[in-house]
Order: sequence, then structure tokens, then C-alpha cells
Amino acid sequence: MIRVVFNQKGGVGKSSIATNLAAIGASREVKTLLVDLDPQCNSTQYLLGEDVTVVEKTIRDLFTHRGKGGRASYDFITESPFENLDLIAADSSIGDLQSKLESKHKIHKLRDVLRELEEEYDVIIIDTPPAYNFFTLSALIAADRCLIPFDCDDFSRRALYTLLENLAETQEDHNDDLELDGIVVNQYQSRARLPNDIIQELIEEDLPVLESRISQSVKMRESHSVSTPLVYLAPSHKLTQELEALYDEIEAL
Ligand SMILES: Nc1ncnc2c1ncn2[C@@H]1O[C@H](COP(=O)(O)OP(=O)(O)O)[C@@H](O)[C@H]1O
Ligand SMILES: [Mg+2]
Repeated sequence: MIRVVFNQKGGVGKSSIATNLAAIGASREVKTLLVDLDPQCNSTQYLLGEDVTVVEKTIRDLFTHRGKGGRASYDFITESPFENLDLIAADSSIGDLQSKLESKHKIHKLRDVLRELEEEYDVIIIDTPPAYNFFTLSALIAADRCLIPFDCDDFSRRALYTLLENLAETQEDHNDDLELDGIVVNQYQSRARLPNDIIQELIEEDLPVLESRISQSVKMRESHSVSTPLVYLAPSHKLTQELEALYDEIEAL
């Protein structure tokens, strides 16, 4: 199963959620591959910390991989420090490749490689850049399911309608099989009125808002700063439990 975590807006929690969901699966002995498509490399740094400097092969090598060597020649996978969790590291200069890949019609490359890797991994999670570009489209074409983090402010809400239109268009044009997990509210503050009003309105508009809410907590930043996903850093913390509940909720869909 291939899941893409997507929102063209930055700062909504894509990398935080993608990495933590991957770690939760891995901690439950689900063989998991995290694919970092964002040149900002946040998920890659989150998982590898200082070790990031020793990464030799990245997502660039996936997109430029040639030949029919198949799986055996896929040397762009990096082991993470955590059991059952591997990574295809991001590449900060991947943007250079975009027009070349486009002109060579490589939009299915990611899908083809990940479909092969599905023989080895139970779950593949793709983190995406905050843009609707070649790489995000590649991910939406590759994926079976799409999870949309949403941070409950009014700008994000407006961006959400564009996002859902883009998604519907991608489904029509490229990937009929892509299913929406739903919208997950992140940085949730249960006592503030505005976010609750916004959520209520989205629900009334029939948007697929998931039940799970991910609270705003400094523990998330702490987890980033020590390069340790929450399930390992603070297994009984409220934030971790909310992420586990999200994992279970989308798993059960
Ligand atoms: N639930 C949360 N509580 C507190 N801070 C959060 C939470 N989720 C994300 N953040 C912080 O918000 C910022 C953006 O999150 P990130 O996952 O990088 O978003 P994106 O990948 O969508 O750009 C980061 O600094 C991250 O630490
Ligand atoms: Mg990110």
C-alpha cells in the first residue's frame, strides 16, 4: 500500500505526520519505506539526524535510474536507525531535474519503482514538497491513498478547496484508483473557538474530515530536534497517542 501525504501549502504538518506514521508502522513490525520528495529534506533529517551527511544515494538516483536491473540495482534506499524503517532520502537539488524529467515523460517513474518495491515493503509513505509540481504529481500517480494534513487556519482553508480540485483532476486524468484517506486536523487547539468553527464548517460542507485530531504540542519540535519520532521518544505522550489513533483510523478505512 502506497500512501502520499499531500498539501500544496507548507507548514501544515506533512513531514511531521508522514515520518511519525512511518515510525508507528515500523514499531509495530510493519515493514515501512518513507520516501522524501521534498528538497527541504525535513523527513530525511528527522529520521537520520547527523547521519544525513553520510547519505550517498537519494531520490535523484531513483528518478535517473536506468536499465532493467530491477530491484537488485535499486541502491538508493538508506537504512534508518530504526528497525523495519527504510528511507529514500530527499535531494536538495532535485529541482534541477524537473524540466529534464518532464521532457522525458518520466511522470510514471516513481510509480513503477515503488510498485516493484511493494514486494518488499508492507507500507510506503511519500512526503511531498509544498507545491503542485512534477514531483507531487508523480507521487499522486504512484499512490493508492492520499492523506491531507490541515492546520485549521483560514488561509489553509481557502487553499483546501484548490487542493481538492487538483486532487479530483489528478484522479480523473491520471489515477482512478487514488482514494482519499481524508483531512487530518493538525496543530489542533481544542479550547480555541476559531479552529472548532472551521472544522464544523468543513464537516457541514461534507468534506472528509477524519475523527483523529493532532494537538499542537512542543513535543513535536522536541522530537524533530533529537531526530527521534514520537513513538520512540515518548510512547505514552498524548501527541503520540493521537498519532497512533490516526494510524489506526486510516488503517481501518
Ligand atoms: N502537532 C504539532 N504541534 C506542534 N508543532 C507542530 C505540529 N505539527 C507540526 N509542527 C511544527 O510545524 C512546523 C511545520 O511542520 P512540518 O511537518 O514541517 O510541515 P510541512 O511538512 O507541511 O511543511 C514544524 O516546525 C513542526 O515542528
Ligand atoms: Mg515538509
